Amino acid sequence: MRSYKLIAPAKINLSLEIIGDRPDGYHELVMILQSIDLADEIEIHSISDETIRVHCNHPQVPTDKSNLVYRAAELMATKFPQALAKYGGVDITLNKHIPVAAGLAGGSTNAAAVLVGIDLLWNLGLTQTEIEELGSILGSDIPFCVAGGTVIATGRGEQLSPLPTLDHIYIVLGKYRSLEVSTAWAYKTYRQEYGSTYLRDTNDLASRAAAVHSAPVVKAILAKDAVAIAKTMHNDLEKVVLPSYPQVLQLKEVFASQPGVIGTMMSGSGPSVFALCASQSQAEQIQQQVRQIIPNEDLELFVTRTITHGIQVAGK
Ligand code: C5P
Repeated sequence: MRSYKLIAPAKINLSLEIIGDRPDGYHELVMILQSIDLADEIEIHSISDETIRVHCNHPQVPTDKSNLVYRAAELMATKFPQALAKYGGVDITLNKHIPVAAGLAGGSTNAAAVLVGIDLLWNLGLTQTEIEELGSILGSDIPFCVAGGTVIATGRGEQLSPLPTLDHIYIVLGKYRSLEVSTAWAYKTYRQEYGSTYLRDTNDLASRAAAVHSAPVVKAILAKDAVAIAKTMHNDLEKVVLPSYPQVLQLKEVFASQPGVIGTMMSGSGPSVFALCASQSQAEQIQQQVRQIIPNEDLELFVTRTITHGIQVAGK
């Protein structure tokens, strides 16, 4: 039996700008995506029958076809039927630490790990670009999750341009366990309320460059200036999610009021909110302070940090 262990990190958005709609129903985006060390562990091994089995330690996570991980394995089986016949099916165990439905790409990073794991299990020898292309069939965030680091993502979010990596910026991240935001709902509501502001010709480079909110963030990243990054971060989806989820807005305000927080923002379509902090010890203090201000058991708080990689193989 062959098996691999993989580490699948979450992401946060240092920016998320919606610049247009697309004929495929998705939205044209400019995002700056950042990997963080909050990660799930994925074990994958070959089984003799040609089936896909998924197990998970988290009761909220489905193990059937509705799980992106299942669909990632199914896609590999469809694309590489000879490898399936030679090596057999796959048994996948997800050990979740990343909050689910949180705007942290938890499902996408698990699927990215499965693509990487099956490539190894079946000796396919795919390039990272080939794995990213397979990922983009399943979800817009999966190519980034394969690559990781600090990246500008455009198109649906699947076209990646790497930026210099940002290591060791400390973050406190909060998510209410019982709150979930539908990504499709967030984009649909944004389109209804702000669609009239979209750029009409998103193929035009000048129009793309007008995605002004992300430009100062890129400049700050190039200068490795964490304070400037924190001050220029931007997420268009806050405009629709925060008014509908007052607890998320309150969490953001509590983070912002803490000494040592250099900037705070919602990640992706939420509802997780993160605060960039001046140091690890300050992040730990802020976590304790926020726990006292909001003594709600439903609120999960994590201290994490920026990292420079995506999916990693942790062992056989
Ligand atoms: O690509 P993914 O399946 O992760 O996206 C989830 C949902 O988010 C889509 O069904 C779509 O409603 C919305 N979305 C969008 N534009 C994007 C990415 C996602 O409208 N660029």
